[in-house]
Amino acid sequence: MVSASYARLITLEEFIIQGQNNFKGATGELSQLLRDIALAAKIISNEVNKAGITNILGLDGSTNVQGEMVKRLDIFSNDQMRHALSRSGNVCMIISEENDEPVRTRSSQGKYVVAMDPLDGSSNIDVNVSIGTIFSVFSRKTDRTQAPDITDALQAGTDQIAAGFVLYGSSTTLVYTTGMGVSVFTLDPGLGEFFLSERSVRIPAFGPAYSLNEGHINQCSRAVQQYVKQCRQPDKISGRPQQCRYIGSMVSDVYRTLLNGGIFMYPETTALPKGKLRLLYECYPMAFIVEQAGGKAVDCRNTRILDVPLTQIHQRSSIYLGSPTNMDTLTALF
Ligand code: AHG
Ligand code: MN
Ligand code: MN
Repeated sequence: MVSASYARLITLEEFIIQGQNNFKGATGELSQLLRDIALAAKIISNEVNKAGITNILGLDGSTNVQGEMVKRLDIFSNDQMRHALSRSGNVCMIISEENDEPVRTRSSQGKYVVAMDPLDGSSNIDVNVSIGTIFSVFSRKTDRTQAPDITDALQAGTDQIAAGFVLYGSSTTLVYTTGMGVSVFTLDPGLGEFFLSERSVRIPAFGPAYSLNEGHINQCSRAVQQYVKQCRQPDKISGRPQQCRYIGSMVSDVYRTLLNGGIFMYPETTALPKGKLRLLYECYPMAFIVEQAGGKAVDCRNTRILDVPLTQIHQRSSIYLGSPTNMDTLTALF
């Protein structure tokens, strides 16, 4: 007999079906894609939670297109996501941080293109700090009778039809949007089931935390330095300065900002004049989610992230996202 507490919970499966039924003309292909991503999330979560034992930690010896040392868990997560996304036949192309070029799947007639950061926060893997997976879903541009090509990969942020991330933390959390608000699911590892923990997430209008790698502050613009200085001043009402919170995994810093309010920044710096985070599979999906929750996301020119043109699949961008009040205070200084 299912205990009373479970009886009231909604599974991801039920939620997806409900969402599909509300979507006129839905064919179930996007629903299947979201299910496949959830399956990969469970497999990766299981591996992350025992990584110390199965010696999957550490470097695998290669470097990726970004020139970054690749960790074994990056490769494992990339493989699991690629297998999962190829199951349904609905995905014709995958763009991944871990692959130099877009990868065509066996399903050349598939309806969707997925861009992903299979494991975000790699520098935190070996020290047991939260990491995650970020994904973005587009409808293909080319006709389904022909092979997908680069025009299917280089789409606009506003073309996303779904976006989300998985956070492998004290619990495994799946956050996603299909453009109808942001929903949060928490994995019950005992049952292997994601349960709805929050629907229609709204970011607080203001939050008392700013988040950036302050080690780079001297390489940042005057506006960012000015903003951080203001955050450190005691607030006129509370008499306290803002909190600085920085985990170093975008998924964790964005999730905290989404729930508690505040601002997350990865500014352009003198060392990284175009910023560090990748536009297609880190900035676009996170901007879509934050906007769907009532927040804002811009680059250093105060251009809405979703409107920043994408010209290369691993293109980097500065990003500032968060609560409207925090964002307006910052952008007034640009
Ligand atoms: P990834 O592990 O996919 O390369 O992403 C790491 C990113 C992002 O998660 C985080 O916000 C940022 O790197 C942290 O960079 P710094 O260590 O330079 O602060
Ligand atoms: Mn990342
Ligand atoms: Mn990554």
